[in-house]
Amino acid sequence: MFARLSVYTLLALSICAANAFPQYQSLAGLSRDELDAVIPTLQFSPPQAPPGPLADDSTKLINDPAHPHLPLKDGDIRGPCPALNTLASHGYLPRNGIVTPVQIINAVQEALNLENTFARFLVFSTFLVNGNPITNLMSIGGATPLTGQNPPKPATVGGLDSHNNCEGDTSMSRADFFFGNNHDFNETRFQNLINFSNKFGAGKYNLTVATELRNFLHQDSLHNNPQFSLVSPRLFTAYGESVFPINFFIDGRQKDGQLDLTVARGFFQLMQLPPDFHRHDGAISNEGFETVYNKYPIQPGSNTVGVNTYKADLTSATLFQPCLRYTSFVNNNIKALYPNPTGQLRKAINTNLQFLYESTLADNCTQVFPYGRD
Ligand code: HEM
Repeated sequence: MFARLSVYTLLALSICAANAFPQYQSLAGLSRDELDAVIPTLQFSPPQAPPGPLADDSTKLINDPAHPHLPLKDGDIRGPCPALNTLASHGYLPRNGIVTPVQIINAVQEALNLENTFARFLVFSTFLVNGNPITNLMSIGGATPLTGQNPPKPATVGGLDSHNNCEGDTSMSRADFFFGNNHDFNETRFQNLINFSNKFGAGKYNLTVATELRNFLHQDSLHNNPQFSLVSPRLFTAYGESVFPINFFIDGRQKDGQLDLTVARGFFQLMQLPPDFHRHDGAISNEGFETVYNKYPIQPGSNTVGVNTYKADLTSATLFQPCLRYTSFVNNNIKALYPNPTGQLRKAINTNLQFLYESTLADNCTQVFPYGRD
């Protein structure tokens, strides 16, 4: 047996230690059975303010001896994001795949040089719909008791696998939700990326390939997935993710924008950084997405009554309406999960909503307060 106090202390240490970019162990060596018994009893853990940008965002060695790739242990969770999976398998994130928002921001900044505002936006928007505001924990894959006791329904706390919050159709290496498994690596799907790289990129993944592949994936879902949908917020992640492999998976010392396919497979499938990997030279986010969009512009929309019945959804934000994206995400997506939160839950959601809003300041949107001001 173990004392409750020591478990709290160890958990706190493992969360606070995020700032030092340590290698994470599963919670202080407790067995899976012990964790399963203990984690759901965790109490309120208030949201932590997000970190600012890196002081030095130049390129540097990331696949270093302090962050070895380790095989998954029984119970470790992975999900649809090849970057977060890889960072967990190298110990930049807790290796069990249960994370706090601040841990993710620190990890994606430190290891991949994701720009601070963009990192905060991605993290707080996904956390608000897929994480547990009470314990401040989120799974990078499926729902699990390791994120603690859930707030009352209709909240789902489903982790990043949750469909249509940020995960969605037309992924490069995961199947559409309609076909069953939207989160594990899918070789058939990945072969499209390989074939398009061979056809349009002379064996490399680059901006031309990203453009052609995105159009193909859109057409493919439209023709084969009766429930195909591509509306905000998924619309934004889809176009961002098309250029992410170019912006983040290429070694920071390599400046030609051509991603080697073995390196790509390392991230997408094996969750492994290449040997001697250096991060991008300078903070970066979704640069290039307009190029991908402009050749084959689409309207947000869905198949309405089966395959090939794509209809534009005029209520969805387009890629160029960040304020509509923000307000409808808060007023629709978040409100649907938390219609009337009270007490600490309301406080925690409001704090996370404030963090989300602060990540959109450059867009000059009007802030919305669905649960009142504190
Ligand atoms: C530099 C940082 C990141 C990179 C390079 C990255 C890269 C990617 C890529 C390439 C995909 C597409 C996978 C595919 O189409 O098969 C993806 C998917 C995803 N990522 Fe990330 N990501 C990053 C950060 C994040 C963060 C901070 C979050 C949220 C906390 C996140 C959540 C997701 C989710 C939910 C998906 C699934 C979307 C889908 O394809 O349906 N990612 N990521």
